[in-house]
Amino acid sequence: ILKDGILSVPPVTPPEEVKDIASFDFDKDKSTVSITVVGASGDLAKKKIFPALFALYYEGCLPEHFTIFGYARSKMSDAELRTMVSKTLTCRIDQRENCGEKMDQFLERCFYQPGQYDSEKNFLELDRNLKQHEAGRVANRLFYLSIPPNIFIDAVKCASSSASSASGWTRVIVEKPFGRDSESSAALTRSLKQYLDEDQIFRQVFSLIDHYLGKELVENLSVLRFSNLIFEPLWSRQYIRNVQFIFAEDFGTEGRGGYFDNYGIIRDIMQNHLLQILALFAMETPVSLDAEDIRNEKVKVLRSMRPLRLDDVVVGQYKSHTRGGVKYPAYTDDKTVPGGSLTPTFAAAALFIDNARWDGVPFLMKAGKALHDRRAEIRVQFRHVPGNLYNKNIIDLATNELVIRVQPDESIYLKINNKVPGLGMRLDRSNLNLLYAARYSKEIPDAYERLLLDAIEGERRLFIRSDELDAAWSLFSPVLKDLEDNKIVPEYYPYGSRGPVGSHYLAARYKVRWG
Ligand code: NDP
Ligand code: BG6
Repeated sequence: ILKDGILSVPPVTPPEEVKDIASFDFDKDKSTVSITVVGASGDLAKKKIFPALFALYYEGCLPEHFTIFGYARSKMSDAELRTMVSKTLTCRIDQRENCGEKMDQFLERCFYQPGQYDSEKNFLELDRNLKQHEAGRVANRLFYLSIPPNIFIDAVKCASSSASSASGWTRVIVEKPFGRDSESSAALTRSLKQYLDEDQIFRQVFSLIDHYLGKELVENLSVLRFSNLIFEPLWSRQYIRNVQFIFAEDFGTEGRGGYFDNYGIIRDIMQNHLLQILALFAMETPVSLDAEDIRNEKVKVLRSMRPLRLDDVVVGQYKSHTRGGVKYPAYTDDKTVPGGSLTPTFAAAALFIDNARWDGVPFLMKAGKALHDRRAEIRVQFRHVPGNLYNKNIIDLATNELVIRVQPDESIYLKINNKVPGLGMRLDRSNLNLLYAARYSKEIPDAYERLLLDAIEGERRLFIRSDELDAAWSLFSPVLKDLEDNKIVPEYYPYGSRGPVGSHYLAARYKVRWG
């Protein structure tokens, strides 16, 4: 700051003290927000949505006037819903003393409406109940469809015709999966558009959610790239040898086999979560941070990609394995999975972006269940230093690698070659490490918190536009059809292992070693 000809540096505010979204004033217009969790009795609602809503309430991010309704077929009273919900609420945000009190206040604002998903009559009852709580205010309504995909359209139809707001906006969040391939996804979008619009200028809109876009480290990708001088100049085929997108879980489909068998790992993780991260990683600089500008760039990347070929995919399925006296089940041991199922629980793929920036750079993806660890990360492997003076000081002089660890132990680290302290000249590989837990004292918000807040605020940057979805499906639909038509048998890997060796051969074909 230049004041009276003297240059002074303003004090640096520690990041944890930076005031964030919590201070937003929603109540300026005397409006209210009614949030209906459709499928409130289900797994996702209990595990993620109610806890995320509580976290937003706790942090002061919800408007002063809000009501939450659970809607599902199960018979439940308000009190029973509150008891169910209270079991999954936590004070993890921080241990402020009033957390228990806040929980009670939050639960008092939760209600339950039993009903069928295809019943206009039941949605009208919901509408009547919502109105009572809205008490003549401008009523904004958010519906979160936490239900199986086969009933999305029924619920959208009923919610839009019988329970949409007459005075404010109505927004419907649709959970994945958005179809099984290009055709079914296009049909789903067409049906949604019969009842709702996609463009925010309309009063009744739908948004497709991919919760990976709400993860802290995924949100940070653009900050890393576009607000640090050192990365963007390196972000191209000139310096980057390959990029890896890795998703691993150390547990199987446990309880979700019925859903999973109909989709498989490519549709469950690659076509959405990993591809979305890839698009953010590889897109050109958007004109602004406006949702449409960002999504325009993502679509351009997706449309520059070659559809995945059968040759560039390896699929696997976990089999039973006994370790330390414990027997871990095979995928097909799940009672909800048909015996002899060929559905992949693991896949590795090599993708390419045919544009000037990325021509020839392999973008490798790997996703699997029942592996030896749980992690989601992006690994960027850089090229060799030409004519490296230090080649003689280390047997295998490593290239630089940037790792963006999305979860767990969120961190960003850069592997560099470094001189081992001492009189000699010995090099080793070390990390420049930004470990979030060490740097930031504040707990990282859950992805659903960010996305729910964005939905309430009308921020659409982190939701998927339907043209993005079309582009994403056109990359994967042909190979999914080939896999299924040809009944390709997956490579079996033991529960808790590193996955099929085929993935290493695939990587080796492109001179890549998995990180
Ligand atoms: P559930 O299978 O738990 O279903 C949610 C609710 O929908 C159930 O409690 C049930 O409520 C109702 N329901 C279930 N099956 C049927 C059916 N055949 N016909 C009518 N109603 C049914 O789903 P989840 O909570 O696991 O997932 C909800 C959505 O979120 C799905 O689209 C899923 O793909 C997606 N998702 C889930 C994740 C998770 O971790 N669970 C992660 C990411 C996405 P009632 O019987 O009371 O009406
Ligand atoms: C969901 C998938 O979208 O993401 C699940 O359907 C997967 O199969 C889950 O387990 C992983 O999410 P997270 O946030 O736990 O990494």
